[in-house]
Amino acid sequence: MVIIYYKQVTSTMDIAHDYASKNFPHGTIILADIQTEGRGRLRRKWISPEGGLWFSIILYPSIYLKKKIDCLGILISVAVYKALDIFLKEKDILNFKWPNDLELNKKKVAGILLESIYENNEIKYIIAGVGINLFVEQSYFQKYDIDATSLKDLVLVEDKLIILKEIRNQILSHIADYPDNWDYVFQFYKSRFPYIGSNAVNRLNGKEVKIVDIDDNGSIILEEENKIKKYPWGGISLEIKRITY
Ligand code: BTN
Repeated sequence: MVIIYYKQVTSTMDIAHDYASKNFPHGTIILADIQTEGRGRLRRKWISPEGGLWFSIILYPSIYLKKKIDCLGILISVAVYKALDIFLKEKDILNFKWPNDLELNKKKVAGILLESIYENNEIKYIIAGVGINLFVEQSYFQKYDIDATSLKDLVLVEDKLIILKEIRNQILSHIADYPDNWDYVFQFYKSRFPYIGSNAVNRLNGKEVKIVDIDDNGSIILEEENKIKKYPWGGISLEIKRITY
């Protein structure tokens, strides 16, 4: 297993693209303690202080996954969930927020970013970036007014490499087992997605929507202005409306 470690980088995504362009193998991991220019979906900044688990993994998807690339995000989300669950004091306490977030008490604890590189109209490789607020101090989120939380008080081991290796194994086996595992993976994801029926705002156009379902290609189905619309993985950002009592 290749894990390339840096104390500090701009973004593990940039470094992983460099290695992938030099044909580093499937499953190569770039890990950093701190990122100065961490990025999230839709060009958002991803704040990456010491204590987090910030890494990117180089993937060469199979022909099946190349045709169903939206499913890859769900496979990786479920793989990360299952790996984390092993190391948490309480079991099965996280939930998914479509498309790529893991939450604890409906606050973000992890996010996944997929960047694909094409050659001759075909995917050459994908870099999957995973950011987990593993041991980040809780006070950090309050200080910077970030609506997120940390797993710090819930993690059973202190060595983040042990967790990283389990996540890597889960990601690679979930990808290798596709498509045979899809029904199971999809049901696992959906049963831990608590937002069906919730109202949300489509951040791309500011419109109010209702979350109707997730289809088995990983697309979200929304009711927007009395019409049913489908958005693929990563094609939309939703702000779920919280019910406040
Ligand atoms: C999101 O929720 O928008 C995705 C966040 C992905 C963050 C990770 S941290 C490791 C890798 N390097 C980055 O710059 N981003 C990803």
